[in-house]
Amino acid sequence: MTLDLGQELKDDFPILSHKVRGVSDLVYLDSAATSQKPKVVIAAESNFYTSTNATVHRSGHELGELASAAYEAARENIARFVGIEPGNLIFTKNATEGINLVAYAVLNATLLAKSGDKRYNKLAIGAEDSIVITEMEHHANIVPWQHLAQVTGARLEYLKVDESGRLDIDESKFSKSTKIVAITHQSNVLGSVTDVAKIVRFANKVGAMVVLDACQSVPHFNVDFKLLGVSAAAWSGHKMLGPTGVGCLYLNDELLGELPPFLLGGNMIENVTYESSTFRSDNAKFEAGTMNIAQVVGLSAAVDYLKNVGMNVIHEHVRELTGAALKGMLSMPGIRILGPTDLTDREGLVSFEVDGVHPHDVSQFLDSKGVAVRAGHHCAWPLHRKLGAVASSRASFYLYNTKEDVDVFLAALDQIRDYFKVA
Ligand SMILES: Cc1ncc(COP(=O)(O)O)c(C=O)c1O
Repeated sequence: MTLDLGQELKDDFPILSHKVRGVSDLVYLDSAATSQKPKVVIAAESNFYTSTNATVHRSGHELGELASAAYEAARENIARFVGIEPGNLIFTKNATEGINLVAYAVLNATLLAKSGDKRYNKLAIGAEDSIVITEMEHHANIVPWQHLAQVTGARLEYLKVDESGRLDIDESKFSKSTKIVAITHQSNVLGSVTDVAKIVRFANKVGAMVVLDACQSVPHFNVDFKLLGVSAAAWSGHKMLGPTGVGCLYLNDELLGELPPFLLGGNMIENVTYESSTFRSDNAKFEAGTMNIAQVVGLSAAVDYLKNVGMNVIHEHVRELTGAALKGMLSMPGIRILGPTDLTDREGLVSFEVDGVHPHDVSQFLDSKGVAVRAGHHCAWPLHRKLGAVASSRASFYLYNTKEDVDVFLAALDQIRDYFKVA
């Protein structure tokens, strides 16, 4: 039984003692948007600025050395957490930038191949090729691929979401023309979890790269990108107790070596003359300019915190809370859950509609009781259209939530239709 976990950890998160509008205890159910930060993460970032601050990989003075060592130690810690080598981890500002990095690098490869640089022929994409994504992607994993398809003429294809809210991995969408398969590991609307191994198997058969949006998975359960066999994976630090402003991108050895850079400037070069430049061949190729050093150090502290609690313990706790929320919601009239209604292949968030009440009114009513949920299309507008919902409300759970939080949420939810006189 892990239902006491949230109670045990609450004091580690100063913001959770916030009184909503000066009155109600905060019940924070918006961790899928961004998680709250434990004291150790806030302290790690602050300590870096107090004792170690300098830019990295440039300055020969002591602080420069200390900052570089802290940055690279953080890289090692974060990389090991997801089963990869530190050399395959690139820091970005968020998951969105990581996915854009891959899409723009492929576009650059296409342009360079067209200009006659044969090194990029393999990566180049054109009208005869296809990119496969899914109907349940966040805009961050749709729009960059739409753009790549638009400017190269490639076809964009969608794997469908079935009636239950799970992905239908239809092998016929994978063909010799498929160059890229970009999928979410866990939907930020439906909560459903993708069978990545199956996707990788189908993609490998046709020689396509697999780009994983791991934003909602890395914070919630053990993930090993090498074991999964994906080519690339992007996620955000701020959803896993880390600071805002830092994201991570995994590139396997092949992509790390073959992709041309996305951003050009300081640190990523090998040599620069007035006429031309050559680039680093390691992960520094993708880290142009002064990086988000303090945030990377803060994210490493977040990883330590998660490891201390234990990812299996967190996973189990969040599943229990999600199960309790689903059970309570299913017993209420006028609630429509988007996504699977049982815990098979689905994780810690529940998006829902309240019959006759706009999601913004739902979230405002819940806020008046201290409960913070998200309302809107959650950056998944096409999916909402497919589901026939203008928008939805979403409650998402994390390690610091308690069973009482779920009870407060359910009790408030139960009053909404009466309050708006639609019951
Ligand atoms: C599944 C998924 N992908 C991508 C993103 C984008 O993350 P960020 O805004 O941190 O880049 C999010 C954030 O909500 C998400 O939930």
